[in-house]
Amino acid sequence: MRHALFLAAALLAGCSSSVAPGGAGTPALKTDQVIVAHRGASGHAPEHTFAAYDQALAMGAEYIEQDVYATADGVLVCLHDTTLNRTARGPAENCSGSVGSKTLEQLKTCDMGSWFNETYPDRARPEYAGQKIPTLEEVFQRYGKDVNYYIEIKPGLDLTPPSVAQRLLDLMAKYGLRDGAVTRHKVLVQSFIPTVLLEMRRLDPEIPLIQLMQPATTNAATLPLIAAYSFGVGPPVSDVNASLVQQAHGLGLAVHPYTVNETEDLERVAALCVDGMFTNFPDRYRAVLGANKFDCPEPIR
Ligand code: G3P
Ligand code: CA
Repeated sequence: MRHALFLAAALLAGCSSSVAPGGAGTPALKTDQVIVAHRGASGHAPEHTFAAYDQALAMGAEYIEQDVYATADGVLVCLHDTTLNRTARGPAENCSGSVGSKTLEQLKTCDMGSWFNETYPDRARPEYAGQKIPTLEEVFQRYGKDVNYYIEIKPGLDLTPPSVAQRLLDLMAKYGLRDGAVTRHKVLVQSFIPTVLLEMRRLDPEIPLIQLMQPATTNAATLPLIAAYSFGVGPPVSDVNASLVQQAHGLGLAVHPYTVNETEDLERVAALCVDGMFTNFPDRYRAVLGANKFDCPEPIR
């Protein structure tokens, strides 16, 4: 079995580079798919800030997504890009270049919200300026067991043990999140890198995993390999059609495409009977699921 898993990983590596449901008072859904707030409600607020996570939950997201890297001093922080250049403002020595080359103390000098106000003046808010990069521990402290986390381990510079996977497990244990992850999928761990997921599986075989896919790699050949170790698959939306969803479901795999933002696209992909989607606009997805009873089987959760 172990060999089969590593074979699957090797094959997939060639293809890859590298419910606290929402806010009180949100109306019931007619279709029960999983709303994943991609980097938080990142269409409305600067990605991977508490402002974005808070808004996502208020809008009825079922999961908030974190992309995580280890800092130079081994702290897990939430950021999407490998570098700080796009989303950080502040002293250049602290707030530009690779996130993995900075200490947490350096990163905490950076303003992670002003870029959003500059880029999207129509959505700018004064309180976004000065938002700090959150550590994963701070996220767990803020939201606790009441919400669901969808955590992506990003490729980083963390060559010194413990690995990001081990650090993540340690934090989940510290904040009592492991049992909810195993029994109710309250934490899903995702990666584009099969060996990262296989390491997580080696460390704790019961943590539910999501294999992310690069474009044009999700197909009848790769899905059975993924099903050997994953709870689900995260394909780019360009790879998703009804046949692919059926094949994945036949293997027991949940299907969570990324990243779907326009209402007409959310409607179209939801009608393919996916099990959930990543979106920057959880309010739009919730509106779609609240208004439409799609003719789909119960989602895999
Ligand atoms: O994790 C799903 C989706 O977020 C993958 O793309 O680049 O936004 O992390 P990316
Ligand atoms: Ca991600």
